[in-house]
Amino acid sequence: MMNRKINVILTGFGTVGREFVRLLEEKGPTIQQTYGVELQLVGVAGRNGFLYDPDGLDLETLLACGKGSAALDQYAKHHQLSLQETVFCGDVLVESTPTDIVDGGPALSYIMRAIDNQMDVVALSKGALVTAYRDIMNAAKAIKVRVRYSGATAAALPTLDVGMYSLAGCRIERIEGILNGTTNYILTKMHEDRLTFEQALSLAQEKGIAETNPALDISGTDSACKILLLANSLLDTDCTLRDVRIVGVEGITPKDIERSRARGKRIKLIAKAYRESDGVSIEVSPVELEQDSPLAGIAGTNKGVWFHTDLMGTVCIVGGASHPRAAAAAALKDVINLFRRD
Ligand SMILES: NC(=O)c1ccc[n+]([C@@H]2O[C@H](COP(=O)([O-])OP(=O)(O)OC[C@H]3O[C@@H](n4cnc5c(N)ncnc54)[C@H](OP(=O)(O)O)[C@@H]3O)[C@@H](O)[C@H]2O)c1
Repeated sequence: MMNRKINVILTGFGTVGREFVRLLEEKGPTIQQTYGVELQLVGVAGRNGFLYDPDGLDLETLLACGKGSAALDQYAKHHQLSLQETVFCGDVLVESTPTDIVDGGPALSYIMRAIDNQMDVVALSKGALVTAYRDIMNAAKAIKVRVRYSGATAAALPTLDVGMYSLAGCRIERIEGILNGTTNYILTKMHEDRLTFEQALSLAQEKGIAETNPALDISGTDSACKILLLANSLLDTDCTLRDVRIVGVEGITPKDIERSRARGKRIKLIAKAYRESDGVSIEVSPVELEQDSPLAGIAGTNKGVWFHTDLMGTVCIVGGASHPRAAAAAALKDVINLFRRD
């Protein structure tokens, strides 16, 4: 099999972006051998500019420079390069800048410019897709490039791929899921160890599961972004976050947990999108689940998604690690699947 060289441009060299580079370094030879694709990182954009080498950046040196935009400055100094304006001259953009759900942030302009330059896009950040899903998809369709975003739709838990490929030909009637590992961990600890919400959140922060600012997670917004993207992709909606009814987990008390325990049920933060006679409803809220629901037993940082279809019955997928390396692996999977030659 002839290998195909794919030039990769990465925007955002933070926690996940760096993990992605680490995976390119570790898995490069295996990917080449297994899928016939040679992934070459030619550019990385940080806050201060763009590091570019058309012959491929030296991954080992880049990783040794540390993390974040400062690492790019250091690499440039080491190789006597200067940071420049970002150029979109690769085959695929891997977008990993911070998620901005207000206006899409830098990700939106990176993604649009990549599409204009005929590059495929693999997004980890959610902001651009959440705020401008239809614009991005229309632009990609017009230029005939592809956009994938497993990293933005529960990452290591396969959701989008299952809907797009494994359920192709079916009408998906309903999607339900536990799409946020942090809130599931908090609710699990409240149920199993009888912690208060505040205690469970502190524990999640101590363990590095919850971010220092966990607002997006506990308010249900992160889950809302994911179910919104799944609905727009798989249920043909054209919705924005304003169309999603969102209730987070901040208001759950030990009394609520006790009450549901006494009834033999479990409270979970459920994100769902379902067809009704007059359209599709999308919502995120804590729900008391019967013990025999496939989502009830999903514990800790695990996630799960449950599809209801017309032809294939229901399909439930559970698991998928919730950490930056797993998120980077989800983006790598998207890149491989775009270009594989097997
Ligand atoms: N962490 C996870 O497990 C996970 C899972 C799934 C999806 N995601 C998504 O993946 C994305 C990255 O997450 P992360 O945890 O890696 O965040 P992060 O550590 O904050 O990294 C973001 C990086 O983007 C850089 N950046 C900021 N503005 C930029 C700009 N205009 N141009 C280029 N680079 C810019 C930041 O630069 P500085 O170094 O200067 O700050 C930082 O290095 C987010 O959108 C997140 O929602 C994360």
